[in-house]
Amino acid sequence: KPMKQINIIDSKDYVDQEVEIGGWLTDKRSSGKIAFLQLRDGTGFFQGVVLKNQVGEELFEEIKRLRQESSLKIVGTIHKDDRSHFGYEIEISSLEVLGTSEDYPITPKEHGVDFLLDHRHLWLRSKKPYAIMKIRNEVIRATYEFFNKEGFIKIDAPILTSSAPEGTTELFKTKYFDREAYLSQSGQLYEEAAAMAYDKVFSFGPAFRAEKSKTRRHLIEFWMIEPEMAFMHQEESLEVQERYIAFLVQSVLDNCQYELKLLDRDPKILEKYTKLPYPRVSYDKAIEMLQESGEFPDTKWGDDFGSPEETFLAEQFDKPVFVLNYPKAIKPFYMKPHPTRDDVYLCADLLAPEGYGEIIGGSERETDYDKLLQVIRDKGMNEPDYEWYLDLRKYGTVPHSGFGLGLERAITWITGEDHIREAIPFPRLLNRLKP
Ligand code: 4AD
Ligand code: MG
Repeated sequence: KPMKQINIIDSKDYVDQEVEIGGWLTDKRSSGKIAFLQLRDGTGFFQGVVLKNQVGEELFEEIKRLRQESSLKIVGTIHKDDRSHFGYEIEISSLEVLGTSEDYPITPKEHGVDFLLDHRHLWLRSKKPYAIMKIRNEVIRATYEFFNKEGFIKIDAPILTSSAPEGTTELFKTKYFDREAYLSQSGQLYEEAAAMAYDKVFSFGPAFRAEKSKTRRHLIEFWMIEPEMAFMHQEESLEVQERYIAFLVQSVLDNCQYELKLLDRDPKILEKYTKLPYPRVSYDKAIEMLQESGEFPDTKWGDDFGSPEETFLAEQFDKPVFVLNYPKAIKPFYMKPHPTRDDVYLCADLLAPEGYGEIIGGSERETDYDKLLQVIRDKGMNEPDYEWYLDLRKYGTVPHSGFGLGLERAITWITGEDHIREAIPFPRLLNRLKP
């Protein structure tokens, strides 16, 4: 029968069988009689063993001359290999070189991050990016599964817009024929319209923010999941949020053990984050905690939290923590004010543990036409751009709430990486638009 072509990931189903694999060489080591080839095929990494007395002198010499990232067609027999993370290896009987590779820039030695980012198109082939992208894919897959099972439908929001829901400081302007448009900061306003049409909805798309500062937590282009729920108050929205995050973490634990191992990310730590509920603490209380710590002598009520404050607060808990009811002055126009206080909104940020900061921002939304119009005017926003949004309060307004999860923030936290640039295939950073 013809030789079966398989992927490395499927090795467990072909133990002691002869198969064909297409892949690349990542590293090699050889002596007089035996060569060890480190191989990858996009689905996994494993070792190929070549014995000179099996493949013959000529092929053995050719194999010894192979360079890193040569592309290969390999025929061989899969064996169990308990010494490796992966658990299998291939004993090679023949091999064909498809493409040679001279002086591949990313060698097994350490490289600086700027060098790696310049070579992101090649760096993606390495083990760490591989593991992170697989986990990213699992988080995306689990997102669709979660919202499907909870009765949400996906409604895509436009990318080219005329509105600036999160404020005007970080907008990307672009030409829209003879007018100006912005690249979307958030799909939320459109999801609110969709929630009035289809009850529970979510968007999942790119968001653009011209963040002028370099931080470990900010991308210029990132991906956001924005659910919006009709007839739902803020407390119930928080329950959706914690169920969603716990589901993402559990899915990664269930389906990405190999990738977590490649990243040295301890699954025991992640297991803590699957236990609900997550703690809730008011903004007022958070300010007190910061003041009482003695580490933040200048902190006063009304301040927004920077990354040190968020890290300190998260450290006081061993799970993600919701900080509730922030002052109006530091949050956007669409939020619903607290029913018994006029200085805070019905909103919450979810702070991730281990110093990863805010991963979700969300709120109940203002439902009253006149009050919303007043805020739009008070903030000096361009009224005609928001007429359609005000319509939602004119034709059958209902209580509704929603939130936004930053995909890359969540992935950076779940994978335990230091910097958000690792969590997206081709990061857009201050001064970086290539590759
Ligand atoms: O808190 P933000 O600005 O909230 C919104 O955009 C709302 N419209 C969401 C909603 O209620 N539908 O952003 C939401 C999340 C943040 O918590 C953070 O995780 C992520 O998006 N985020 C960023 N991620 C990477 N780089 C940036 N520059 C980010 N800005 C926000
Ligand atoms: Mg926010």
